[in-house]
Amino acid sequence: MDEVFDSLELLGLENFPSDDGSLLFVIWLFFFGKPLWGKYAPFRLAGGKGFNAHNFRSVLETLLQHPALYQFVQDVIGGTRARQWTVERYVRLQPGESILDLGCGPGDLLKLLPATADFKYLGIDLSEKYLNVAAKRANDSIDFVQGDCAHFLPLLDGRRFDWIFCMGLLHHLSDAQCQSLLSAAAQSLTEKGSLICLEPTLSDSQSRLTHATMSLDRGEYLRTEDEWRQLFDSEFRDVTMYWLDGAFRIPYQKTVSVLQKPR
Ligand SMILES: C[S@@+](CC[C@H](N)C(=O)[O-])C[C@H]1O[C@@H](n2cnc3c(N)ncnc32)[C@H](O)[C@@H]1O
Repeated sequence: MDEVFDSLELLGLENFPSDDGSLLFVIWLFFFGKPLWGKYAPFRLAGGKGFNAHNFRSVLETLLQHPALYQFVQDVIGGTRARQWTVERYVRLQPGESILDLGCGPGDLLKLLPATADFKYLGIDLSEKYLNVAAKRANDSIDFVQGDCAHFLPLLDGRRFDWIFCMGLLHHLSDAQCQSLLSAAAQSLTEKGSLICLEPTLSDSQSRLTHATMSLDRGEYLRTEDEWRQLFDSEFRDVTMYWLDGAFRIPYQKTVSVLQKPR
């Protein structure tokens, strides 16, 4: 990754990715700079011959399985900022509290929590590649387990958590899988605990460009605010949803949902 940043500095993009102008440059490079990157054309990685939404999506899927690229893309498009705002605005971590991070990926939630805070953390994910990176953050209080979050209850040995996070996980799960996860989360929260979900959310007021961008997401189950609410309401009595506007640098929108008081 250091080499990538060195090259960006050579190109005068030292503020990348925080500088939005440089993001436009990269988009331009992707679509019009083919002579520059010729044989590295990303759609060839997926075996495609031409450029269309389908092979672009499968290229993204292939590339984003690499943890460093996933993290880089999240920084560039504003996904990291969305997570950061979620934690800053909706999480008040108290000393000694416990956190369950479902679909933890490379464990980047830990970067957003105060380094000095005293908490216990368990991250669960299916992906071995992501967990290998996450494991570097493990210590006496921080642990990672490989498993399917649609059926995570047996992995907890009866432990309960003050905070459960689903950051970008639920749109990878069908309604039945979400239902099973939400029911297990409801059983695994402490009395005053909260489940925090950060998920892409469709709305009629979004432009066609926003819908097109969101349809490139790896998750197959994009939902509207009403559809999310219907799922959440079935397991929790107290559900509050917020649109997280302005976090993303691309046309893409997420909501944060704070779920409390299991039914
Ligand atoms: C968009 S990434 C989000 C990662 C992380 N929460 C973050 O905020 O950076 C979605 C994650 O969910 C994981 N995932 C998808 N389906 C899963 C399942 N059924 N059980 C566990 N993890 C799953 C993927 O491996 C991936 O790490």
